Amino acid sequence: MCGIIGFSGSLEAADVLVTGLEQLEYRGYDSAGIAVQSKQGIQSVKAVGNVGALKEKLKEKVFHGSCGIGHTRWATHGGVSEVNAHPHQFGKITLIHNGIIENYKEIWEEYGAGKTLVSQTDTEIAALLFDKLYQGKPEETIKKAVSILEGSYAFCIIFEDIPDIVYCVRKVSPLVAARAKEGSFVASDVTALIAYTQDYFVLPEETILVLKQDTLYLEDLDGNQVEPEMLHVNWDTTAAQKNGYPHYMIKEIHEQAEALRNTILPRIKDNMPNFEAEQIPDSIFKGIDQIKIVACGTAMHAGMVGKVLLEKRVRIPVGVEIASEFRYQNPIINEKTLVIVISQSGETIDTLASLRQAKSKKAITLAIVNVKGSTIARESDYVLYTHAGPEIAVASTKAYTVQIAALVLLTMRMAYVSGMSDIEVIKKDYELLKLAEEAVHISLAKEEEIKELTNILKEKEDLFFIGRGIDYALSCEGSIKLKEISYIHSEAYAAGELKHGTISLITEGVPVIAIATQESVYAKMISNIREVRARGALVILITQEGVEVEPSIYNYHLTIPKLPDEFTPIPTAVLLQLIAYYTSVHRGLNVDQPRNLAKSVTVE
Ligand code: G6P
Repeated sequence: MCGIIGFSGSLEAADVLVTGLEQLEYRGYDSAGIAVQSKQGIQSVKAVGNVGALKEKLKEKVFHGSCGIGHTRWATHGGVSEVNAHPHQFGKITLIHNGIIENYKEIWEEYGAGKTLVSQTDTEIAALLFDKLYQGKPEETIKKAVSILEGSYAFCIIFEDIPDIVYCVRKVSPLVAARAKEGSFVASDVTALIAYTQDYFVLPEETILVLKQDTLYLEDLDGNQVEPEMLHVNWDTTAAQKNGYPHYMIKEIHEQAEALRNTILPRIKDNMPNFEAEQIPDSIFKGIDQIKIVACGTAMHAGMVGKVLLEKRVRIPVGVEIASEFRYQNPIINEKTLVIVISQSGETIDTLASLRQAKSKKAITLAIVNVKGSTIARESDYVLYTHAGPEIAVASTKAYTVQIAALVLLTMRMAYVSGMSDIEVIKKDYELLKLAEEAVHISLAKEEEIKELTNILKEKEDLFFIGRGIDYALSCEGSIKLKEISYIHSEAYAAGELKHGTISLITEGVPVIAIATQESVYAKMISNIREVRARGALVILITQEGVEVEPSIYNYHLTIPKLPDEFTPIPTAVLLQLIAYYTSVHRGLNVDQPRNLAKSVTVE
């Protein structure tokens, strides 16, 4: 949440900052701003709206300088306005911030006497604190400030009287940094740095990072030099571009077969899933008596699929928990619990807090994470990386299907280790997983058909998704995808639950997307579909190919290839993603930047 970039080097800072902010825009796009150290002093430009609005404003104002900071905001504290946009300046301090300063009131009471604020943000009060503490020594100032500040933060600070240096410090909120021939860089994530280098490091918490034109260095709060632990990304700038697609979302939908292959193949040895390379020992799957899957949003929906798979195949109780609830519920877990946390970004604050909670209760923790070196990945006992590559669209697509693939692999391994499935069954599972991966292309081939049929949805105000078992989990995901980018009110219902209330909302022409891919409950689903059809619902039905369906029960019929129940989610998800995407396109909305949302939620 909120994108941050800082630079000191040999290029025009304004260009580096704006290009970096464009890459980070998915973290928030309420407002954007930059500050550059120029010959005239520190100059800032801010604009309400996305980075495009900032670029427009920059056309009117040219300034030169090779050191600066930039920010794209997702508003938390203080409304969306130009004065609340970052950078914030107070006295000699100009800074950008991601996070929340929880004790801003106390700081204001203690240090604010006689001062006036121009914004309604906690960040400006932090700037005031830094300024109050500043006596010409930035590192000393930062050390004192972090002993006072409570909450989460990533700060990049420039001092009026210290040219060409950016100082950074963080707690919880992410920051990565890198050196390249063009200079020293810091950013919220590596997508903003990839144009310059593929080698970077994560700034350790409560360590001061100093960016200079020709070097960068780190020191801890006791003044000791810290050696960064270098990481490498194996994708380049083209992976984070639209590459001819009109939106990132549709590009990422199309990248799913490759993302799945990249996630599955490295874990296959002798046609069996094998996690030796990531040092996940089979022993952690033995002796556990429950599994908790903890995540937020789309990642949580992947967890719902995982629950069905694991309970069916491993016969162990699995609870799927919303991370923002789990962390405050004093969960009943212990050393016999395997806690699987799922997160694309690896930075979601509630998922991270849940992981820490699980570790404090001695549970075994395993993270399914897409972003290498992210906090959740670093803090879990074990990590199973998904290899979706960078996901830029706020609506998650490829990250979701690879999370499901990772859960399928885990289920297969656990079923084998626990003796629930023998080796031949697992090898057959792998063949089926390959078929599911190939079925992505079959779903993608229906793009034109879906583009056409979603014309009917674009004028609707309410919509329902229904399904049973795995299809209920898919309904939840289909529903969130649609509402987040099309702004159509939508609900997901377990099909059998519909008649306990919600069916009162089904009237003539209300769309119901009925997912009926599960053979085990197919007949029950058909009865539920008849119930809504009898009340005038416009039914879009999704089934496996080759099943018998009476034409009178649907208006539109989409199919996925014939697969056993556990392997249907991936091709079904692709159909649902296309439905959401084209509905949003038909409504003329900003698909990649839906209102009020951000991709990486690093504040509570
Ligand atoms: C935000 C995003 C969702 C995502 C969720 C969890 O709400 O908009 O797409 O599913 O956070 O993010 P994570 O990075 O932990 O998977």
